[in-house]
Amino acid sequence: MIGESEAINQYQERVSQSNDEEIKHIIEHIRDEEKEHVAELVQPIRKLDNAQEEKFQWGSKIKMDC
Ligand SMILES: [Fe+2]
Repeated sequence: MIGESEAINQYQERVSQSNDEEIKHIIEHIRDEEKEHVAELVQPIRKLDNAQEEKFQWGSKIKMDC
């Protein structure tokens, strides 16, 4: 999970630094695949860790002002 998060941040940094729209698009696609990996990794945690699942449920109720 940490590796996936680091990869997302690194790809996002590359997107921000690129001036080439085609390269940017490719890197954004790869970044979004890493986001899918995070979502996939969360599922077994939610299934196997009841305390963490309760925290996910609690967190989903928080209103964000952004
Ligand atoms: Fe990944």
